[in-house]
Amino acid sequence: MPPVEIVRNRQRQAGPLAPEMAGSARLARKFHATLPGSASTPLVRLPGLAARLGVRAVFVKDESQRFGLEAFKGLGSSWAVARVLGERLGLAPERLDFAGLRAARPQLGELTFVTATDGNHGRGLAWAARLLGHRARVFMPAGAAAARVAAIREQGAQCVVTDLAYDDAVRHAAAHARELDAILVQDTAWDGYEQIPSWIMEGYGTLALETAEQLAVSGPDGSPSHIFLQAGVGSFAAAVLASLGAALGASGAPRPAFVSVEPHAADCVFRSIRAADENPRTCPGSLETLMAGLSCGEVSRLAWPLLRAGLAAACAVSDDVARCGMRLLARPEAGDPPLVSGESGAVGAGLLHWLMQPEPGARGASARARELLGLGRASTVLLISTEGATNPTVWEAVTGDAAPARGEPGS
Ligand SMILES: Cc1ncc(COP(=O)(O)O)c(C=O)c1O
Repeated sequence: MPPVEIVRNRQRQAGPLAPEMAGSARLARKFHATLPGSASTPLVRLPGLAARLGVRAVFVKDESQRFGLEAFKGLGSSWAVARVLGERLGLAPERLDFAGLRAARPQLGELTFVTATDGNHGRGLAWAARLLGHRARVFMPAGAAAARVAAIREQGAQCVVTDLAYDDAVRHAAAHARELDAILVQDTAWDGYEQIPSWIMEGYGTLALETAEQLAVSGPDGSPSHIFLQAGVGSFAAAVLASLGAALGASGAPRPAFVSVEPHAADCVFRSIRAADENPRTCPGSLETLMAGLSCGEVSRLAWPLLRAGLAAACAVSDDVARCGMRLLARPEAGDPPLVSGESGAVGAGLLHWLMQPEPGARGASARARELLGLGRASTVLLISTEGATNPTVWEAVTGDAAPARGEPGS
């Protein structure tokens, strides 16, 4: 298997994708701003890396600092929990805020939220449930990292590591929630389960709106030509593609090329884009990869139409590409700031490095992929580091540095 496989999306459509997503994202952002520990995460420019790789500019949105949870995922779970509570209280989404939901806790009673997770989503849900005075029960797939289990338990949630692969753990959590009459807050959608995952995607929109504003004040090279988006079930990539695409479009910027990135072992979006019809494909097998957050074999039903219409290309990559990205960000070029980025967070940087590497001869695999993407000296590339060192053992082994202490919860 080559380190990188790439396929052009032959079903890409022109025009705005889901312009309404920007409006919903604005409501989510207003709510997020009321949460303890809320702050925009940094958009970091890496001029040294851009010069080394031969592109015009590289920007990284650093989600390792989000709410003290080391990943962007709390954005989705907190907005979904808020929307669930808002519905029970008869509150419109515009009226949701932290203080109001906390004050309504006696009226609501104690609710139990259930989910399955590779780590980050469950930690985000456990945090959101605790913050708003409720309980969370979290199921994890076989092989879950001890540090990720501990981080979920630290948020007061009950966490059970199953012997199942990710997609089966999701089915298990759904069945458990039905039995308990609890509320399933899952970050992927299927037939008949769409409302809560759509709120989760709206919540990710906060990140997109922040990024659009930060890019707008970044100077003449701040209009990205290429945006690399990691995909597990595809909710993150679809949400960012739609809401960032809409926000950039509204500012008059040309539409960037959105490119999905997945591990070879869990490449459901890549397979679906390659198949080039209306049906998403699944990825069979154990889904074993270093990139735990991306270890998902089934594309979300809500994400698929957006990815199908909006991606320029899809990539599947080896674990070594993620390792390369982690090292590149941790040990930057002179003058660039170091970034703590975990396996699933750094894979976009590793992909960019692979794409821009010089090769003997003009027709090497990287050169062909660059041509397919239209990537070169004039390109501005946006990467989103979606997590920090959420598995410190792996991060330390790969980078040779000591991982920072686990982020404190934002309360
Ligand atoms: C760090 C990180 N990046 C990216 C993703 C991908 O998100 P999605 O599953 O919505 O595609 C995840 C999912 O858990 C993640 O944890």
